[in-house]
Amino acid sequence: MSINNYLNKYCRSWIMAKVSPSILAADFSSLGKEVYRVGKAADMIHFDVMDGLFVPNITFGPAVLASIRRHTALPIEAHLMIQKPSGFLDRFAVSGATFITVHVEADSSIRTLKRIRELGALPGIALNPSTPVSAVKPALGHVSLVLVMTVNPGFGGQGFIMSSISRIRQIRSMILEQDLDVLIEVDGGINLDTAKKAVGAGADVLVAGSYVYGSRNPAQAINALKKLKCKDI
Ligand code: DX5
Ligand code: ZN
Repeated sequence: MSINNYLNKYCRSWIMAKVSPSILAADFSSLGKEVYRVGKAADMIHFDVMDGLFVPNITFGPAVLASIRRHTALPIEAHLMIQKPSGFLDRFAVSGATFITVHVEADSSIRTLKRIRELGALPGIALNPSTPVSAVKPALGHVSLVLVMTVNPGFGGQGFIMSSISRIRQIRSMILEQDLDVLIEVDGGINLDTAKKAVGAGADVLVAGSYVYGSRNPAQAINALKKLKCKDI
């Protein structure tokens, strides 16, 4: 099915995208409250793990995820921007991660993806803007989610890379061709304008850090991202 047929099939007047606020842009001194204040509007919580090697930045790990888990019933997705995720999968699963996403540029063997499922979590595969989309093809049958980086990973608040739009379309086609039940998530530089473009290309889940937590009313910002008019996309 072409992307247009796909959208026409599901789009009547509104498209409801799912939104996953990234707590990378939240106030780290009160993460419990920060998670709570997006709770009613958000579909998941995006948790960016960085090791200072895979990306030039360091954030938080399983212990912080476990603390947040106590403050929300929403799915939490651990986006592992780390070189060697395999040694940490158990700890993220035990800490309460619903999704565990590893990068195709790091250790993302089929064995790693299978291990995530064995641990009771849902596996995701992420790819950087410079990585050919074909790199995720072998993993598609083993994941619940493909995370398309729409900025270079490492920092929040960057501008959306426009060439990502055709990449989202290509991945959507690959998923439809194989008739797989896999979500497409986009991460980086999401605002109302880029959200429309990404959803129009086939994205299901929007990760948004600065757009949500930088706004005066995060729940309202999420609702605006979620409810997009068909004619706008
Ligand atoms: C970047 C992270 C993103 C980041 C997005 O490496 O993976 O999740 O939080 O932040 P914004 O929405 O501000 O671009
Ligand atoms: Zn992320």
